[in-house]
Amino acid sequence: MLTVPKIKNFSKDEKLIALTAYDRPSAISADKAGVDIVLVGDSLSNVILGNENTTSIGMKEMTYHVTAVSKFINSSLIVADLPFGSVQSGLQVASGHACELIRCGANAIKIEGGEEVLELVEHLTKHGVPVMGHVGLTPQKVEQIGGHLVQGKTAKDSKRIYKEARSLESSGVFSIVLECVPMQLAKKITSDTNVPTVGIGSGPCCNGQILVFHDLIGWHQGKFKFLKKPFGDVSREINNAISSFSESVKKGSYPSADESWSISEDLIEDLEQ
Ligand code: KIV
Repeated sequence: MLTVPKIKNFSKDEKLIALTAYDRPSAISADKAGVDIVLVGDSLSNVILGNENTTSIGMKEMTYHVTAVSKFINSSLIVADLPFGSVQSGLQVASGHACELIRCGANAIKIEGGEEVLELVEHLTKHGVPVMGHVGLTPQKVEQIGGHLVQGKTAKDSKRIYKEARSLESSGVFSIVLECVPMQLAKKITSDTNVPTVGIGSGPCCNGQILVFHDLIGWHQGKFKFLKKPFGDVSREINNAISSFSESVKKGSYPSADESWSISEDLIEDLEQ
């Protein structure tokens, strides 16, 4: 079983593998494949529920999916996203929500943001709730940012993100997600921090990489600059399976007698007596 201290002390020569999971099939697949960190990400808002943004979901959806995923994980570390609306409601509410996610089966909480979440990160880590930071593109601020845009392209912005990562480390996070920042900035943060960085759309120099489950396997997801070609083509497999089912039913080859239950013909003849 991977633990928070093991990840915190992860050798910088190894690569951390992280993947989102939202339900039984994705949890079993990620865990069996030996993924280090399974993130029950608030991306479930987009990927599973079809919303435009992660801001559409809250604790109800997060607790539901963390509970489902945690039943099927044996060795990966389970991290749950603190959803939109928690940090915005103040330290007390956010801490309560973090504890609720731990109670549902998460081993750690991921919190988006920089300076504005440091007090919460310090409070939680001091009281035994492990926290993963998340800087760069923070989708819960999509309205303020104006879209899912790469961050840290200007001197001012890259300095801000660098400072946020360093402050999060000082506040006690065990790892930091770097989302959609230029690879040079990710490299600098990775070399200057002692906790592992996990990148998405942030180049090859992070200590680990994370992807959304459905993006990785190619299941009805969009195209991204940071993933030119998904690692699988599950949509095609699914379409083939459905077409094959449909053809077999139409031509009468499915279901076969072997796939059906039977009783004696006499019983049938008796039905109308
Ligand atoms: O919610 C999510 O899936 C995430 C990852 C993209 C890092 O936060």
